Amino acid sequence: MEQRVQNIVILTGAGISKESGLDTFRDEDGIWSKVCIEDVATPEAFRCDPEKVQGFYNARRRQLLGGNIKPNGAHDALARLEKEWPDKAGGKVTIVTQNIDNLHEAAGSVNLIHMHGEILKARCSACGGVSPCEDDLGQGESCPDCVEINRLRPHVVWFGEMPLEMARIYDLLEDCALFISIGTSGNVYPAAGFVQHARSHGLAHTIELNLEPSEGATIFAEARYGPASDLIPAYVVELLKYGIAKK
Ligand code: APR
Repeated sequence: MEQRVQNIVILTGAGISKESGLDTFRDEDGIWSKVCIEDVATPEAFRCDPEKVQGFYNARRRQLLGGNIKPNGAHDALARLEKEWPDKAGGKVTIVTQNIDNLHEAAGSVNLIHMHGEILKARCSACGGVSPCEDDLGQGESCPDCVEINRLRPHVVWFGEMPLEMARIYDLLEDCALFISIGTSGNVYPAAGFVQHARSHGLAHTIELNLEPSEGATIFAEARYGPASDLIPAYVVELLKYGIAKK
């Protein structure tokens, strides 16, 4: 009987970018310990004080572009897995990231879904057009598509808004042999529910690779804890050598 192709879906969160110099959200020194979600990461906040919200994302965009922020070994290992896995097991590797940084792309990953958007893109509130954005927003710039002035917001999904490409993500989860969760606390849905979806809709093996147990740790069939730049390269070598080991 022909062996089924073995697709892999990888969910990443802020923890994978921590060793590249970007803060997580809910660690001790995380972003939400310094700024209140309601002030900068909701549509209401943007309506009430667009300058404050633009300022929050402008600072993070400047840090990403000007702060010598580079992919780390974990990002590089995932890009290697995407390249080499098809020859090994015939399947595809897709990263679904909650992160709005560009470190997966910078490491060479291509099959990538930014479910919470991207800080290096802007979205026009007038025409919905999405365009590259490497400068500050909120300074009277015009939309490259409809030329409306001052209608550009960060192309970032705020709390209360629907994450992007959800139908495609659920299709991938239902058709994967391995679901890997990396660097996420499992606090935010729908991403926190992906492991359950993968398990209940398919035959996926599920593994959590994180600094410490996440909220959903007990749902995973397997878990390893430590810094991503140690765990991920070692796990990718293992996968490429031995395939998916059901624990
Ligand atoms: N290696 C691996 N994991 C790490 C590392 C590291 N070096 N450092 C921290 N972590 C882990 C933490 O233990 C934590 O479980 O990464 C996780 C980060 O969790 P959060 O800060 O909650 O970030 P995340 O899960 O990505 O947040 C999800 O919440 O605020 C929203 O939109 C935002 O996309 C974000 C979403």
